[in-house]
Amino acid sequence: MKTKKNSTARSGTFAASGRAQEQKKPRVVTTKTVTTMKHAGEKIVMLTAYDYLVAKYLDQVGVDIILVGDSLGNVVHGYETTLPVTVDDMIYHAKAVKRAVKNALIVVDMPFMSFQASIDEAIRNAGRIMKEVGVGAVKLEGGEYIADIVHHLVKIGIPVMGHLGLTPQAINKFGTYEVRATDKKEADELLHDAKVLADAGVFSIVLEKIPTKLAKRVTESVPVPTIGIGAGPFCDGQVLVVYDMLGLTEEFKPRFVRRYTELAKIMRTAFEAFIHDVKEQKFPTEKESY
Ligand code: KIV
Repeated sequence: MKTKKNSTARSGTFAASGRAQEQKKPRVVTTKTVTTMKHAGEKIVMLTAYDYLVAKYLDQVGVDIILVGDSLGNVVHGYETTLPVTVDDMIYHAKAVKRAVKNALIVVDMPFMSFQASIDEAIRNAGRIMKEVGVGAVKLEGGEYIADIVHHLVKIGIPVMGHLGLTPQAINKFGTYEVRATDKKEADELLHDAKVLADAGVFSIVLEKIPTKLAKRVTESVPVPTIGIGAGPFCDGQVLVVYDMLGLTEEFKPRFVRRYTELAKIMRTAFEAFIHDVKEQKFPTEKESY
């Protein structure tokens, strides 16, 4: 009887591992993969992460690109803008993300004034991020005026993601976080910038908070994938800030954010329950003690 039970268990295990083998192996995403996805019409999924655990869960469920965005200045560090974020901040958070990720492509934002001053400085800072963290690419905000920098980075082997439309590092120039490129002149400029960036060698471009029609035009006009945030459904992929889609940034309610859960409420309920349990001496119980 015992033998039979054991042999059943073994064959069960064998069958299960056979099924596992039949399942598709998770794909390791590279910059080349995302180009292929555009041409195959497969939507690209990008979310931000700034720490080990969130990155681990994003990677486990098959998010294609994990962006260590300089939005960490707002949502992790509590700055009003992304301007104070440093290269060291980006490296610190990107290292935590990198330790968790097996399959997704990790892209790291180059923060304000880490690449604008000169090509040399851009290379040194992007080089630090690539060398010290070991990620797949960097992201730079800006249009034609950074094309030379992009060209040099790509030439030495540092893949670059572009970022057009609402570029938060330029908040002091624009003065608001409103929708960008709503008039013809700005829309034509943005389309031109996208083409120039593609020619300079970016492997994809984030389009932030621009009209749907313009995002569609850009997407159809450039050979590289576009990844939209507040740019409508026609981009090749979509990105959200992970704290926004989790409902942690409660006061931030632009229409492009879809909240998939209400973590702020869930967290407060848990914290209140803990306060109650400690005050009422209901925690820890004997079972929770040694
Ligand atoms: O910093 C960031 O999180 C970003 C995304 C909003 C695209 O740039």
